[in-house]
Amino acid sequence: MRAKLAPSMMCADFINLEKDIQVFERAGVDYLHIDIMDGHFVPNFTLGPDFVRALRETTDIPMDIHLMVERPENYIELFQPQAGDIVSVHQESTVHLHRVLQKIKDFGARPAVAINPATPVMLLKDVLWDVEVVLIMTVNPGFAGQRLVPATLSKIAELRSMGLPIEIEVDGNVSFENAAKMRRAGADIFVAGSSSIFRKDMTLEEGIKRLREALSE
Ligand code: DX5
Ligand code: ZN
Repeated sequence: MRAKLAPSMMCADFINLEKDIQVFERAGVDYLHIDIMDGHFVPNFTLGPDFVRALRETTDIPMDIHLMVERPENYIELFQPQAGDIVSVHQESTVHLHRVLQKIKDFGARPAVAINPATPVMLLKDVLWDVEVVLIMTVNPGFAGQRLVPATLSKIAELRSMGLPIEIEVDGNVSFENAAKMRRAGADIFVAGSSSIFRKDMTLEEGIKRLREALSE
């Protein structure tokens, strides 16, 4: 499968958001990655439904909504997922994983399950046929700018070797160097944050170009 890019909007320039979005449209990125944190599942707060609504008025790029919240089944309606969007919920965040994935599907969006670095791929066995995407967290969720947890690379390969028709998404410290390793292990969707396209020492355009080069090696 072709490598897809999903810029992490929590790393964007909030004061000049429209400018960043125009760059993403011109570059043809695949998704806008939106981190939603509730201060319980992860010790941080980030974006919310109003932010998603505002983005939808500005762009047709599909949303990749990453819910780092407890009981995600209570909040799917709030985000009004649309056909073509990805909505990911954490395996660790709910005892009703199958139910919430079904709810996402009912909205016509692409259901996805996310796992923290300490959660084994094996625990997903009974939902793998109910998801289109598995999001493997390659850092502990909650903050941008952390270092890769190296053991997560073998989880990508383990999942890929199962031969299922799912896309594998990676999120956390997807640097140019790590992205190439993740691609070789079998990842398809790359969340691009402060380690790549939002690096302070280059423009967004340069960052996107370098990330694409790293993924095509
Ligand atoms: C959390 C976020 C972060 C971050 C990714 O779910 O998605 O992982 O913005 O970018 P880095 O790790 O490169 O800052
Ligand atoms: Zn994320």
